[in-house]
Amino acid sequence: MTAPVHPMPRRDAGSLRTAVLRDGSTVVIAPMAEDHAEGLVRFHRRLSPDTVYRRFFTFHPELTPGEVEWFTHVDHQRREAFVALADGDIVAVARFDRGPDPATAEVAFVVADEWQCRGLGTLLFDHLAGRAWALGVRTLTAETLGTSDGRRRRRA
Ligand SMILES: CC(C)(COP(=O)(O)OP(=O)(O)OC[C@H]1O[C@@H](n2cnc3c(N)ncnc32)[C@H](O)[C@@H]1OP(=O)(O)O)[C@@H](O)C(=O)NCCC(=O)NCCS
Repeated sequence: MTAPVHPMPRRDAGSLRTAVLRDGSTVVIAPMAEDHAEGLVRFHRRLSPDTVYRRFFTFHPELTPGEVEWFTHVDHQRREAFVALADGDIVAVARFDRGPDPATAEVAFVVADEWQCRGLGTLLFDHLAGRAWALGVRTLTAETLGTSDGRRRRRA
């Protein structure tokens, strides 16, 4: 059986989306690309320890070269990621990785501290869920702190 083909998003005008947040600030949502590596390292360094802990569940002030490679090299099919950019700087990252069941994917988000609570996480979730749905994902999971079983499930 031939698997359906879903074209990889290209970073042209069609794959960039400009969005206005509820405080009036503007971000550009773009597919993750290999040349976001340096920006991702800078973004991570600026995160507060609390935000890093809530994303990685550990003290982790610097991304390792292996993590940078892993996070910036996505095939846009099995693994997808988007960045939100403000004045060219990464201010948020959203991603999903499909598991052995391709209809299920685990999502992760991180928004720069000064950009939190402006609706950016919600915007990225909608963007990611739309992409996941187009690829046939029907269930999204996320590892989070502070839940009884450490994992919440939400239908895509
Ligand atoms: C979680 C996170 C991505 C939300 O991004 P955001 O841009 O601040 O989210 P939004 O402004 O769209 O808010 C979405 C909702 O989530 C709520 N929310 C945000 N952060 C929250 C937190 N840490 N705990 C509980 N609720 C939270 C907001 O109150 C809002 O609820 P509302 O719609 O009822 O007002 C961001 O706080 C973050 O990067 N946190 C650190 C990393 C993390 O926890 N990632 C998730 C696990 S991978």
